[in-house]
Amino acid sequence: MRGRIDVLQGDITTLAVDAIVNAANSTLLGGGGVDGAIHRAAGPRLREKCGRLGGCSTGDAKLTGGYDLPARFVIHTVGPVWQGGQRGEAEALASCYRRCFALAVEHEVLSIAFPAISTGAYGYPLEKATRIAALEARTHLEHGSGVNRIVFACFSEEAKDLYVTTLEDIVNLDDVAVQSLGTSRSPE
Ligand code: APR
Repeated sequence: MRGRIDVLQGDITTLAVDAIVNAANSTLLGGGGVDGAIHRAAGPRLREKCGRLGGCSTGDAKLTGGYDLPARFVIHTVGPVWQGGQRGEAEALASCYRRCFALAVEHEVLSIAFPAISTGAYGYPLEKATRIAALEARTHLEHGSGVNRIVFACFSEEAKDLYVTTLEDIVNLDDVAVQSLGTSRSPE
């Protein structure tokens, strides 16, 4: 499976990929962090649509259009709240990535951008979360079909550097390039 993984530092709402992933909450009605940024950039039609989806369980994902975003779709996923690591958080976070890839394949998405799900308000330790993201990306590129460009959109330099080193350690597929694209735009 040929594929490319890019790591960049910047605002995920600016990316003209087929789908961007939103780190949402179970109501899907918006919030702060990347959820707030995506809803602001997508416009009010996104919230109207989300209001009709009946929410989303932790570890699951739901797809909507991108509306005013450059991305064609938004895949909303609900990451686990970190509670110390003994409450199934790792499995739930891995499930978020798997469900996002499954929806992407279902909707013929070729390029998908992820934020660092659960590592903000939900308190998931960045290093642990990054390893899960990298492992799921490798699994998808090894066994999945369809998606051939995965972007990890990091909001801080620390996250970007950690993603690059973690990916280089975990994803050593010959035909996958891990590229750090630098700062697309310094976050406000
Ligand atoms: N682009 C990319 N990444 C971003 C952006 C952005 N515009 N804004 C924030 N981030 C990063 C944060 O720095 C963090 O690394 O996204 C990551 C996830 O942080 P949160 O957005 O706080 O998401 P999460 O930890 O999953 O918590 C979800 O927060 O906003 C609410 O409604 C949301 O209740 C839900 C909870």
